[in-house]
Amino acid sequence: MHIFHRIPELRAHLARFDRPAFVPTMGNLHAGHLALVQQARPLGDVTVASIFVNRLQFLPHEDFDSYPRTFEADCAQLEAAGCQVLFAPSEPELYPQPQRYQVQPPPDLADILEGQFRPGFFTGVCTVVMKLFQIVFGQSKGGGHAVFGQKDYQQWLVLRQMVQQFALPVTVHGAPTERAPDGLALSSRNAYLSAAERAEAVQLNQALRSLADAVMGSVGGAIDLAALEQQTVARLNARGWQTDYLTVRRCSDLQPPTATELAGAGAGGSHPGQLLALGAARLGRTRLIDNWVF
Ligand code: PAF
Repeated sequence: MHIFHRIPELRAHLARFDRPAFVPTMGNLHAGHLALVQQARPLGDVTVASIFVNRLQFLPHEDFDSYPRTFEADCAQLEAAGCQVLFAPSEPELYPQPQRYQVQPPPDLADILEGQFRPGFFTGVCTVVMKLFQIVFGQSKGGGHAVFGQKDYQQWLVLRQMVQQFALPVTVHGAPTERAPDGLALSSRNAYLSAAERAEAVQLNQALRSLADAVMGSVGGAIDLAALEQQTVARLNARGWQTDYLTVRRCSDLQPPTATELAGAGAGGSHPGQLLALGAARLGRTRLIDNWVF
């Protein structure tokens, strides 16, 4: 695997390829990231990953400084997964001056859910991904492919729409969430959990599935969704969680479903796979997110 820390060297190397397949990451890799690399490999003529902990997407009180940085182990895992090129820029390389030109995603998609609790998060994500795309795909002849995990469902949707609206020559792919045997979604932040918290952590997924099951079990959409969501939050909080949100939304735009859409997902309904339950909640000092499509 070729490792580049500087933009010109990476560009010179990538100039000989037509269609990179790219997996942007913040490092501290786990099986979920490696599944993204596996998915990327057949899509392009060179498989590229990046590792960059992007300060722009962290709020001042969040875990930018303590975010796990495990470069050597990440390199070994990427190489074993068949990644051919790693771009790992320093902060001054990617942001030599303060990044004053930023990508502002639409508020109806980016200021809800994660964006409500992490203001500016998606601006930071879109800005760094736009910049990484310019660097990785800037010299490719046939555009390229990028793969993101659907655990971060809202991020995947925001980035897909960014690519579409800016007519970027990139196809965005989503990879299904990788889970531990008990159902916990794999995440770099799981490393923060104590043993007791790790045993409890799967309850977020259980709560989302119970919300989905209640909607799927309802007949003709006859369900008080807001009350159901509140009860689910109360149950999780009673176990010691602090829930930011737990809600059922449309997969296409993350807006609340209409009664007809609820009925379509309910018992005897004919539209499975169009809604999802999403949640974010804090267990101790660890904030976890997950979602469940149904
Ligand atoms: O999902 C992540 O790891 C990050 O948000 C991303 C897409 C690499 C941008 O920093």
